[in-house]
Amino acid sequence: MNIPHHVAIIMDGNGRWAQKRGLPRTAGHKAGGETLKKILPYLKKRGVKVVTLYAFSSENWARPKEEVDTLIKLFRDYLNGDISELKKQKTRISFIGNRHKFPADIVQKMNELELDTENNNEFHVVLALSYGARDDITEAVKQIVGQAVIGMIKGDEITQNLISETLSTHHIPNPDLIIRTSGEQRLSNFLLWEAAYSEFYFPKVHWPDFNETEVDKALEVYTYRNRRFGKI
Ligand code: FPP
Repeated sequence: MNIPHHVAIIMDGNGRWAQKRGLPRTAGHKAGGETLKKILPYLKKRGVKVVTLYAFSSENWARPKEEVDTLIKLFRDYLNGDISELKKQKTRISFIGNRHKFPADIVQKMNELELDTENNNEFHVVLALSYGARDDITEAVKQIVGQAVIGMIKGDEITQNLISETLSTHHIPNPDLIIRTSGEQRLSNFLLWEAAYSEFYFPKVHWPDFNETEVDKALEVYTYRNRRFGKI
């Protein structure tokens, strides 16, 4: 079986999952957090090495305050609690996105986790928080233009490699497989540059219902496509 090295996941459908049960959307996010805790060890067990999770987009700040506050609380609790399980298992943890929009204690925790785990190399979990690919690309363009203006780089030194190295994802390989749960078939501003050659998989199941069987199905589809198209 050909296991993808890097799997990126758009954890969609928490709201719909809750609505179906007559619960508030925030209950869906809580259930989604529980799913995440179960899925990560299973992806590791199946041999995936890097997992990037779209947990909060740059657009998500526009959601109702109560929902944003609940998500921030979930992130805080996760970073201060369950994430330590990952740390114990030699997992590297890093973050992409504009972390400075979060409260200072969360920013400090993110910085600490990155520093503490940077030499862990068995598994790598990347949380995209306040992330938007267009923002990320815009920032990279600004940096590159800034260097060009002061003569540090010449026009013909602006290559695809330089752009990849300037993005916030410079420390991870491009995703081999992108999964978006809940049936929508869009990238929604996630890893636009990095997804150029990724395989996509769109299971109908809402994120809180995503489980080990669903992971197995996704990995099977990935293997099948790679075999069929003779990719390496
Ligand atoms: C999209 O579903 C999901 C989110 C905006 C939040 C994802 C967050 C979690 C899974 C919580 C746990 C995360 C961590 C890192 C502890 P949606 O609300 O847009 O669903 P809908 O499309 O059905 O409304």
